[in-house]
Amino acid sequence: MNETKIVVSGKSFEQYRGSLLAIITNEDKYLPFCTDKLLKKQLTKMFDTGDFSGKKNELILFYPAVDKRQDSISAKRIVQVGTGNLSTESQPVINEILRGVGGLIAQNAEKTKSEDIAIVLPDFLKALKGCGAEQIVEGLLLGDYRFIKYKKPATDKKTFSGIKKITIYCKKDSRVIRRSVNRAQLSSQAALKARDMANEPGNLWTPQHFAAFARKLAKKHSLKCKIYDKSQIARMGMGGIIGVNQGSATPPKLIVLEHTPKKFSKTILLVGKGLTFDSGGISIKPASGMQDMKYDMCGGAAVLASMHSVAQEKPDVRVVAVVPSTDNMSGSKALKPGDIITHYNGITSEVVNTDAEGRLILADALAFGVKKYKPDCVIDLATLTGAVIIGLGHHRTGMMTNNDALAEQLKQSGEYCGEPIWQLPLDEEYTNQIDSDVADIKNTGGKAGGSITAAAYLQKFVDKTPWIHLDIAGTAWDFTKKSYITKGASGVGVRTLIHFIRNWNKTLNF
Ligand code: BES
Ligand code: MN
Ligand code: ZN
Repeated sequence: MNETKIVVSGKSFEQYRGSLLAIITNEDKYLPFCTDKLLKKQLTKMFDTGDFSGKKNELILFYPAVDKRQDSISAKRIVQVGTGNLSTESQPVINEILRGVGGLIAQNAEKTKSEDIAIVLPDFLKALKGCGAEQIVEGLLLGDYRFIKYKKPATDKKTFSGIKKITIYCKKDSRVIRRSVNRAQLSSQAALKARDMANEPGNLWTPQHFAAFARKLAKKHSLKCKIYDKSQIARMGMGGIIGVNQGSATPPKLIVLEHTPKKFSKTILLVGKGLTFDSGGISIKPASGMQDMKYDMCGGAAVLASMHSVAQEKPDVRVVAVVPSTDNMSGSKALKPGDIITHYNGITSEVVNTDAEGRLILADALAFGVKKYKPDCVIDLATLTGAVIIGLGHHRTGMMTNNDALAEQLKQSGEYCGEPIWQLPLDEEYTNQIDSDVADIKNTGGKAGGSITAAAYLQKFVDKTPWIHLDIAGTAWDFTKKSYITKGASGVGVRTLIHFIRNWNKTLNF
């Protein structure tokens, strides 16, 4: 991943000499102060002709006029981007518009092969913290992502290898803006790391790779890391992880990453489904679309990637990430429908459908994390059910919880970050659907309320700990079309988790 350099400048943008200058405006025909008369004329003319009105997502690319008799602007090109009218919008809506602006600029940087770009922060954003720099930078960095490591570069054309440098021009609060930029860089880089892991194919991203990623991160940022291998997982009695892994030639791993401050009073436990390929096992999936099941580890990727930012920001709260990882294959030793397994906490489970494997590995990881770390809250992320896509489509992550106050905090984090969440109920009646005649529970509750009965299964493994389950099956890839959401994995959840952790003082206040 290329790391983009970001500079905040208090100088006039007219001095910028790079490839692409972005001017942000609104429906009030806002124009930044400039001394260059020709540029002023050009900008005004766009509004006067009616060719550009500053609406949201409106963008015009043009070239500064050259006049030998007077100073003219030396940026190679200029894009003017509209935000629409922001004055009556809420903070989350404004955030999303600004990320969209960043994404549009990133798309144009690619189109014009501009590796050195500049943004002029407009005065009409000055009421916002950091003048909206955080969201604009997020949009730029997230929108600049491409997963092309397995494609040979085209030899005939000049290639574009991503945005290398961003200069942000703003005459105000350069320290506050710098801080906003730092936050955006940390959270976006984490989200991009999650995309990188998730976009790897199943043969090149195995439990081993997850373990190596965690070890490397721990070493670089002095986190504590523990990897449990197959024999340890078996010895600990994690029948879910072992069961799902039985049909595979690739051994499972249980990955634990810990950020432990010297002094702390609260602990947040994050658990992510790290299923590196889901064939369905013996209850095999249809062939069509099965390739997308390489993304079945997006929850695990999100959780580990979030630790990338936690490790650098070092909040005064303990954060522990646990990722159970295996693939779900149908080798001759594979789990069979009707088999009964025993989870880490002793609960027995009748495996009715081997394709409902996510809950089996998460159950062990949740029970283990809750017992070992006694967290104040648990958040799990998983591409758990197709049913959540039927219910919510690709626009919202599904949420189920045993603690509404906590869930409300996470919902707000999601909203602030442009990763909207929708809560589904989790009444006792749903839990009754997973009663089994032959074991304590069974691993499917039938078609009706499929996402909720999956959550009801997980709930059995968190005791009374305040817990949130996020079903990201609809949003982890094929997420809503947005300028800053690129093809493939979206990295959903990462920025929401980071926002939630950044505000732990408030979010753990229930
Ligand atoms: N990983 C899948 C869920 C999934 C399906 C995610 C489609 C994204 C897109 C999960 O392991 C699964 O197969 N769930 C089953 C559960 C069923 C057998 C109770 C499902 O949703 O069909
Ligand atoms: Mn499955
Ligand atoms: Zn799965």
